Formats: sequence, C-alpha cells, structure tokens
Amino acid sequence: MRRNPDLDRQAREILVRNDRGGYTVPTHGLYPFQWNWDSAFVALGFATLDRERAWQEIETLVSAQWEDGMIPHIIFHQHDEGYFPGPEVWGTGRIPATSGITQPPVLATVVRQIWESEGADPACVRMQRLYRACLASHRWFHTYRDPLGNGLVMVTHNWETGRDNSSEWDDALGRVDTSEVVPYQRRDTGHVDAAMRPKQEEYDRYVAILQFGKASGWNHRTIADEGPFRMVDVGMSMELLRANRDLLVLAEALGDADAATELRGRIALSEEGIDWLWNEEAGAYCSRDATTHESSGLVTNASFLAFYAGVGNAHQRARLIEALQRLTGSARYLLPSLEAGSRAYDHRRYWRGPVWLVVSYMAAIGLAEQGYTEWANRIREDSARLIERSGFYESFSPETGEGSGGPAFSWTAAMWLAWCGQ
Ligand code: DGY
Repeated sequence: MRRNPDLDRQAREILVRNDRGGYTVPTHGLYPFQWNWDSAFVALGFATLDRERAWQEIETLVSAQWEDGMIPHIIFHQHDEGYFPGPEVWGTGRIPATSGITQPPVLATVVRQIWESEGADPACVRMQRLYRACLASHRWFHTYRDPLGNGLVMVTHNWETGRDNSSEWDDALGRVDTSEVVPYQRRDTGHVDAAMRPKQEEYDRYVAILQFGKASGWNHRTIADEGPFRMVDVGMSMELLRANRDLLVLAEALGDADAATELRGRIALSEEGIDWLWNEEAGAYCSRDATTHESSGLVTNASFLAFYAGVGNAHQRARLIEALQRLTGSARYLLPSLEAGSRAYDHRRYWRGPVWLVVSYMAAIGLAEQGYTEWANRIREDSARLIERSGFYESFSPETGEGSGGPAFSWTAAMWLAWCGQ
C-alpha cells in the first residue's frame, strides 16, 4: 500500500514540472540542465508512472556520451544564464555542449533494475544500445581513472563525486593553486541561501581545477596523470563495483562472453583493492588521496555504500555498524553526510552534514541485502519522515529535518516514488 497518496501526487507533479522534454532538470533555477546521476535516479521515479519516459531520460543522457566513453556530468541542452559554470566556461566544444568531467556510475544499476522489472527482451535494440553505452563508460573509468591498478575510482574534480563540498576533499583542495583563476560570478547563491552552499574560497578551487582541464583540451590522460586534484573516492569506487556486477548480468543475458570475462576480472580486482580505502582508526572505508596516499579518515554517508557494494569482512562490517550506531546519537534523521563533531560539520551546508536521499537509498538497499534489515528500515523510515515534514527538498538537516538547497527537487521526488513512499 502507498504511504501517502497526496505526496505521491506531489512527487509526480514535480517530475512532470521539471521535465524539459526528454530530460529532467534537478530543480528549477539552481540546476537548469541535465545532470548525469540525477537523471539515473529520476529514471527510477519515472519508471513508476511512465516507463517510456524513464527510458527516454537515460537515452537522452547517453546521447551525449563522448567517443572515449565518458558520460559527462552536465549536458547543456539549452541556454540559461542562471548557472555558473556554463558551457563557454567548460569549453569542451561538444554538441550538445557538455562539461568535461563525469559523475557517479550508477547508470548500469538503474538500467538493470528497470529492465528486470519490466521483463524487457535483453536483445532488443534499446537494451543493446544502453548496454554498450554503460560498458564504454565503465571501460573509460578503468582506462583513465584507475591509476593504482586496484579497481578503485580516482576523481579529478570534486564535482565528479556528486558530494561536491564533502570535507573529504578539503586537504587535496587546499593544495590547489587559485592564483590563475579568471574572475567569475557565482550564480548558485542567487538561487539559495549561501549558508547552504560551498564557501567562496572552495569555489575558487573548483574553478581552478576546471581551468586545468580546459587548458589540457579536456585530455583525460593528462588530467588523470597531471591534474591538481586526484582523490580515490569511496562513493564512486563502491558504486562502480556494484554497477560492474549489474553490467555483468546484462552481458550474460546478451551472451557477450568476452565482456563478461572482462567484467568478472574487474569485479575481482575491485573486491581485492577496496581495502586500500579501509581506515582502521575511523572504522570505515574513507576516500584517499591518489598522490599522497593520505586517508581522509572521515566517515561520510558514502562509507556505508560498502554494503551496497557487498564488501567488507565481519570485522569491517561490525565497525561500520558501530559508526551507524554512533550517528544516531547526534542525528535525529539518518543518514547524515558527515558525522556531527567531525571537522567542518554543518547541518545545513550541502555535503557537510545534510541528508541526501539518493545516498540513503543506496546505503539502505545494501544494508537490507546484507541482512541488516532494521538499519535499512530505519534509514528508509527517516527518509520518508523528512519528506513528510519538509517536502521534496534537495537535502535535509539531520538535526531539525528542515529542507536545504533547492525545493521541488527531482531526485527527492523520484526517491519517494521508487523507494521510501511505498
Ligand atoms: C553545482 O553546480 O553545484 C553542481 O553540483 C556541480 O555539478
């Protein structure tokens, strides 16, 4: 039985209102284009009301895939002055215009989920095309973003992680030289309260990294080898491991034996390599610098994606559950993006504390799959309560439940429809 028909209606209306014809903006004003992982989650929401529209969302996203396999993080389908950095700042020269970086590889997981739930013929043209797009994107990660050869994911811009201003990036960002940053005007703080957004000195560093990529002609080899920001992200490493397993299911269904063998090898490599991120002191998997090898030592919501990726021995899982238990002491609503008391914790500021439902969703799915049903239920219940209390915000304070960032947010509506509102 659905939990709240009125919220169901509101969620559907948000998706329809944010639909720009073939793709969905995350929210009106603040994010006026198509974002990569937003679209993947939005497709799950659309699948509950209009399957054809769900596939279209994904197809529009992959239509902007680069020849080297990268699926870009933003596709600038139309002109909009209300966002910085726009297409001319990125200067990738692509048609349609795109950014030059990627975002979390959750697409294959979503494609598998929608495909299985509708029982589509895996050999149909649509599935073949999406399968090939996901395979090319995963190969891009393996080719350009695995400098240590251990099956984990290095990011070259903090925006790629989707967890833009997580404190995990602070030390690495602190080393980024901003002396050559061309003057610019932020637009985000014209849409929402600046206290909910990254700080100005952080933004300068984001722009400096972007300028490095642009100066290289968006050469992904140069950026990976010589770029100013090289972090192995715990979130994307877990997500790619999961997505490789999901892609393997598709490869087997399609009878692509060579790719299946390749994917099995990748999965085994990542399962073995993931311990490179384990931090015994923190009792969690933590993002780690690919250049200095320094661990962030921070427990974030992404640390709990270990369950989603199905990794960790009994000791590691027990430590992660301990961390989850600890979070309940300071957070009224799980799952905060940073633990209260950690350096830079701020319950309203973007990825330094607020709850983000898409990460909660992945963590809860993983916890349920690994037998931690009560924790999965707690996260799901808290997520539903946040929407019931505050509506469909971009994120929420783990302390008060108040919404932060943009309102009428597409992926929050999608999570309600596909997960916590059920
Ligand atoms: C932004 O502009 O804040 C986006 O998160 C970048 O992807």
